[in-house]
Amino acid sequence: MGGIDLHLDALNALLTQRHSCRAFRSDPVPREQIEQIVTSATRVPSWCNAQPWQLTITSGTETDHFREALQRETQQASPNPDLPFPTRYSGVYQDRRRACGWALYKAVGVEKGDRTASAQQMMKNYTLFGAPHCAILSSPTELGPYGAMDCGGFVTAFALAAQALGVASIPQAAVAAYGPFLHRYFDIPDDRIVLCAISFGYPDKDHPANSFRTGRAALDDIVDWRE
Ligand SMILES: Cc1cc2nc3c(=O)[nH]c(=O)nc-3n(C[C@H](O)[C@H](O)[C@H](O)COP(=O)(O)O)c2cc1C
Repeated sequence: MGGIDLHLDALNALLTQRHSCRAFRSDPVPREQIEQIVTSATRVPSWCNAQPWQLTITSGTETDHFREALQRETQQASPNPDLPFPTRYSGVYQDRRRACGWALYKAVGVEKGDRTASAQQMMKNYTLFGAPHCAILSSPTELGPYGAMDCGGFVTAFALAAQALGVASIPQAAVAAYGPFLHRYFDIPDDRIVLCAISFGYPDKDHPANSFRTGRAALDDIVDWRE
């Protein structure tokens, strides 16, 4: 087996081991490891090498205060994300969204149609699923959708680098829903758009919310081969 195969095996191992973690242990990730994760993530490409990502990263009591303030905010404010949320999920996109939601609900024991219990599970987003750290990711408004696109690559690389160190993570658009609050709380200037949060820490491996894995579409469903 050549070097390339070995590298691909290592990359595939990270890609398949990573999953969105929805229950964390409370013990912190050492600052040095967080720096390693962010440094690795910065290696992704960006249009004109603009590197549009900026992060606010919380630890310790800063995460706890943010968690509490965020939960209070959801009780008193309506969602108002900087980046408009998808207008709808239809067809296969709706199917995939539902499959993921049902797998989560089944894992945590929420019955289909139990709106109270599913809303309670959704609200766990605002506890940051118990994570000891949260990164708030923003991009310059003037770079528009391409800045956001570059930051999407950053999110993936962040999650993979974290996985390589045994650190679990979850990107959260649900947190970005409270845009004005995030700008106020973290002094994020108005010439930037908040894209998402990434909660991270060590996974609670025995928690039911971490017991399922999402599927992926077949290659022929996503590639139009021209040969
Ligand atoms: C930009 C982005 C935003 C997301 N926002 C949320 C969120 O707010 N809450 C949540 O539980 N999962 C969120 N997710 C996780 C997705 O549900 C998850 O990536 C998808 O179902 C595939 O599962 P996997 O990450 O475990 O492979 C988000 C993922 C991305 C990439």
